[in-house]
Amino acid sequence: MRTAHDLILAGGLRGKRVLVRSDLNVPLDADGTISDDGRVRASLPTIKALSEAGARVVVCAHLGRPKGAPEARYSLAPVAHRLQELLGAPVAFAADTVGESARSAVRRLWDGQVALLENLRFNPGETSKDDAARGAFADELASLADVFVSDGFGVVHRKQASVYDVAQRLPHACGALVQTEIAALKRLTESPERPYAVVLGGAKVSDKLGVIANLMQTADRLLIGGGMVFTFLAAQGHEVGKSLLEAEQIDAVKGYLDQARELGVEIILPTDIVAATAFSAQAEHSVVDANRIPADWMGLDIGPESAKAFAAKLIDARTVFWNGPMGAFEMPPYASGTKAVAEALAEATALGALTVIGGGDSAAALRRFGFEDSQFGHISTGGGASLEYLEGKQLPGLTVLEG
Ligand code: 3PG
Repeated sequence: MRTAHDLILAGGLRGKRVLVRSDLNVPLDADGTISDDGRVRASLPTIKALSEAGARVVVCAHLGRPKGAPEARYSLAPVAHRLQELLGAPVAFAADTVGESARSAVRRLWDGQVALLENLRFNPGETSKDDAARGAFADELASLADVFVSDGFGVVHRKQASVYDVAQRLPHACGALVQTEIAALKRLTESPERPYAVVLGGAKVSDKLGVIANLMQTADRLLIGGGMVFTFLAAQGHEVGKSLLEAEQIDAVKGYLDQARELGVEIILPTDIVAATAFSAQAEHSVVDANRIPADWMGLDIGPESAKAFAAKLIDARTVFWNGPMGAFEMPPYASGTKAVAEALAEATALGALTVIGGGDSAAALRRFGFEDSQFGHISTGGGASLEYLEGKQLPGLTVLEG
């Protein structure tokens, strides 16, 4: 796969228009301020390197999931502002994706300058399932540039116009972020140092079944927390009260528990739970045994005994992958489990383990708790993309770059 670095080394980028697909899908507060700019920062190396090579850099990205038409709350304008601050150079912001504003912003770029197009998903062609509609939008995007660089790792699992189709229309390469992400994930799939522990959390077990099936073949320990754990507890015959439960997945989960026993994979489930009367920081809450959640209460975090047990299974691991919080960490009464896992990962990293964190929520949790990115081996910018990679799936945004 050709890299942007190869293009720069080969020379000849000065004056060329380079379309860069970045993942700038950052969380915004109600007042429109960016609450975690990690993805903007992660996109800088490629944009900077291309600009320093004299390219006219046209960055394109999405924000949220608008339905193919402009919606003010999904505008990339605040992101353009942040990108400009972090780059320390002006960023021309186009008010549309491939319209007059975009074309004129690109025409006016000088060598080394950067423009950002408005949210790609304001155009229905971007995410269309219809190849022709996607292709028509990709034609317009491609007409804005001479070269395409794919650097939005968080979207490489999406078969979308700016990720997949545009690469079929322009000479292409992958950016530095995609390269770094793949290198880290490869270390997890190609002979990881053992013990290899995986921590999975988050709300939905159905999103994780594919990856659980695959990890069962490679990991030594699987630690489960978050909303998805209640389907595991239910599969063991426990009462889970009003906790999140995907009843239709109970049989699949039972199958995985049996398979884990056969393969000798250790599955670690919480033995205690922080349960509450409602999904609220103000609700009455207390620690209960994992097999005794009261019928009208809901589990919102792993309990302190479980947090200790999880940490013990992580600290002596040599490789750890973590995706998904252990509880509703945004609310202080339910943050301790996620924080304990983060602390254990930081400690394991300090002891020389390779730690990889995948997913926006886990990364946001780390930053909220005040950890530095440097306390972990690699923090992936792509939750869905890293899970699909570990699941062994072909990612359209990567396979298209091979061609
Ligand atoms: C993400 O937030 O994981 C990526 O930006 C992809 O966004 P999507 O799930 O809306 O495609």
